[in-house]
Amino acid sequence: MYQNEGAVAIAQDTLRLLADRRDLLLGAAVDMHPLSTEPRYAEILSREFNTVVAENVFKPHFVWAGPDDYRWDNADRLAQFARENGMALRGHTLVWHQAVPAWLQAGGYTSSEVRRLLEDYIHAIVSRYRGQVCDWDVVNEAIAEGDDPGLRENSFWFKAIGPEYIDLAFRWAHEADPNARLYYNDYEAEDMRPKGNAVFALVKGLQKRGVPIHGVGLQCHLVNGWRVTDEHRQNVRRIADLGLTWQVTECDIRMQLEGGAPTREQLETQAAGYHDVIELCLCEPGCRGFLCWGFTDKHSWIPEFRQGWGAALPLDEEYCAKPAYRAIQRALES
Ligand code: XIL
Repeated sequence: MYQNEGAVAIAQDTLRLLADRRDLLLGAAVDMHPLSTEPRYAEILSREFNTVVAENVFKPHFVWAGPDDYRWDNADRLAQFARENGMALRGHTLVWHQAVPAWLQAGGYTSSEVRRLLEDYIHAIVSRYRGQVCDWDVVNEAIAEGDDPGLRENSFWFKAIGPEYIDLAFRWAHEADPNARLYYNDYEAEDMRPKGNAVFALVKGLQKRGVPIHGVGLQCHLVNGWRVTDEHRQNVRRIADLGLTWQVTECDIRMQLEGGAPTREQLETQAAGYHDVIELCLCEPGCRGFLCWGFTDKHSWIPEFRQGWGAALPLDEEYCAKPAYRAIQRALES
């Protein structure tokens, strides 16, 4: 058991203030339910972060109910929260194999119909939030896993449109908002191993073909014990050398919970990991933002998706600061 370090309402500067000083987008993924039902959730979110991204409500299967039929309510609510609190808004995500609306998959559409539908959808959502969403995850997780990964060929988008769906999505997004920064986003692409190399090759190819891409999102769903290595530095440097920006887009550091609660040692290890990621952002060229996938362990996707794992975020289930919070604070101050 550990003793938590008290509620975050403390005399020290908030993370938001520190991030503003460093000109860093510091954000968290937002779960719309606690945002409207738990006052503390909204309070701490807007006090500690300058950026929000929707954990789910900007994804196509939540918004896109049919051809020309969009349900904007929840996405609009988040956009309004961001505006009211002077926060930047990241758009996640336009094209993802795991977020294809059921009606589209089952619709028996031809290739050219799917292409046309996707074009209309991207135009609709990107223009709706034009001038507010500053960065879009245009394509999410298009690269497969394995030793020599290429594109995921079993993705709905690949099967329906072919590999050019990626170029097209970026071009359509750019048409709808020429000022938005357009990102390719993926997981386990943080280092120089095959997935990182494949993502690098993909974005380099996009650039070479004149496709409007501005950055790479490194999700950073990490496992406790993770520390930064030279390989992470090399990877972000080669991205920056292309003239692209990069962001940590979905950071969490999960741990195995044996007896329910994390030990002091686990929490200190986690804090060292958070310190390393944020320092990578602050010290290496090209980084524009650091976003966590949630901010309180009370609302995190990890326990549901990884059985036996949890405690992955900087605040605990009572919204109290964990050592990870202090580590982020220290890194931003230094
Ligand atoms: C996850 C959400 O956290 C869950 O609530 C949802 O059920 C599934 O998606 N990579 C991504 C995110 O790009 O969109 C995923 O979010 C987590 C992994």
